[in-house]
Amino acid sequence: MSLKRQPVRVAVLGCGTVGSETIRLLRDSAKDLEARIGAPIELIGVAVKDKTAPLPIDGLDPAILTEDPVALAEQADVVVELMGGIEPARTAILAALEAGAGVVTANKALLAVHGPELYAAAQKNGVDLYFEAAVGGAIPILRPIRESLAGDTVRRILGIVNGTTNYVLDRMTLEGLDFEEVLADAQRLGYAEADPTADVDGFDAASKAAILASLAFHTRVSLDDVYREGIRDITADDVAAAAATGHVIKLLAIVERRGPGDQGTPDSGVIARVHPALVPLDHPLASVHGAFNAIYVESEAAGELMFYGRGAGGRPTASAVVGDLVTVARHGLEGTTGPGESTYLALPTLDVAKALTRFQIRLVVKDQPGVLAGVAQVFAAEGVSIETVRQTPGGPALGNGHANLTVVTHQATEGALQRVVAALAGLDVVERVAGAIRVEGE
Ligand code: HSE
Repeated sequence: MSLKRQPVRVAVLGCGTVGSETIRLLRDSAKDLEARIGAPIELIGVAVKDKTAPLPIDGLDPAILTEDPVALAEQADVVVELMGGIEPARTAILAALEAGAGVVTANKALLAVHGPELYAAAQKNGVDLYFEAAVGGAIPILRPIRESLAGDTVRRILGIVNGTTNYVLDRMTLEGLDFEEVLADAQRLGYAEADPTADVDGFDAASKAAILASLAFHTRVSLDDVYREGIRDITADDVAAAAATGHVIKLLAIVERRGPGDQGTPDSGVIARVHPALVPLDHPLASVHGAFNAIYVESEAAGELMFYGRGAGGRPTASAVVGDLVTVARHGLEGTTGPGESTYLALPTLDVAKALTRFQIRLVVKDQPGVLAGVAQVFAAEGVSIETVRQTPGGPALGNGHANLTVVTHQATEGALQRVVAALAGLDVVERVAGAIRVEGE
């Protein structure tokens, strides 16, 4: 792309929280942005769902509003897509790329499913596709992975990439409340959506995991490749049990690369998963509170890096969007592009059963001779080594003759650990499996 026109003609698709803050930032910083880009920016249009509906920003010339994002996208030098969802965002972005415009988007759901198609269109037309705001909101994480770590080998990323679930889990931890109670309050306060499915069931984090894995491991990873569990089943008891062993529960997005022979496994590939996990209190991710995000990167030469900040919100996300816009506009003026899709490793995605992890398993058992031996036998049969066992009396709530057993394992495959949990549930002496949660970050 080489911008023939000056100023740089920018179209913003979507005028919700992030769209309106992006427009505000473009206005407030116009002089600085002009100096940084080397040309002024002209906002040529804003695509909205309904031109007659009130907008969260004042002073927009009604003449630049349109309900046709595709037609608008075809007229710009840089298109900023902030509508979210798959359609019409996909069609509008493809139209922009085909028309030779660079594209900035925050649309994680679209990228996690249609990323390769968008990259291909960008490459074919010699234009940029930038999406820093799609993961971690304001946090610079994608450009560091794509560019700053291009000389290194990323082995694993652990991320708290969903602010809603971190807020809910954090309040459950601090206040000892149950999930439903905190969720209802979070919805009332505007921290959680009226339909919280995308956040609490892990879809949002899974899209971000797919994007992180694709960039970090130079391999295509899509939403379907990501194993996903949300936080709906986490109870106040789970949180209390985590605290009792020096942990806190976080919803983690974990993407890791396996080489043949790594950690004793013959498999080579990528594993991507999103699920709640116990994180030790001394791990940096344990101190990520409220709606904040953090991404912890383990790479061969750099070692461990952590990126922390606001993962959502209009103005923080707009910061990442406008940062991309500056880069894309500069490239347009220079007639260059930034890095495109890098998939040269083409690693297979491995089943989550092959993931190496640890479990904390909480059991209510009969308190009688031989129970511990029987329980231990189940672990031994699957080759799973026990790290710690903690027994506490059942107390009146469990009835007489019962005990609580909390077992923390050493590392084993997810498959073996799941078989252990299933076998324990079938033991006569096990009244119930009260919880089975992975332990990560040690
Ligand atoms: N809903 C997301 C969150 C922000 O709660 O973090 C946008 O991805």
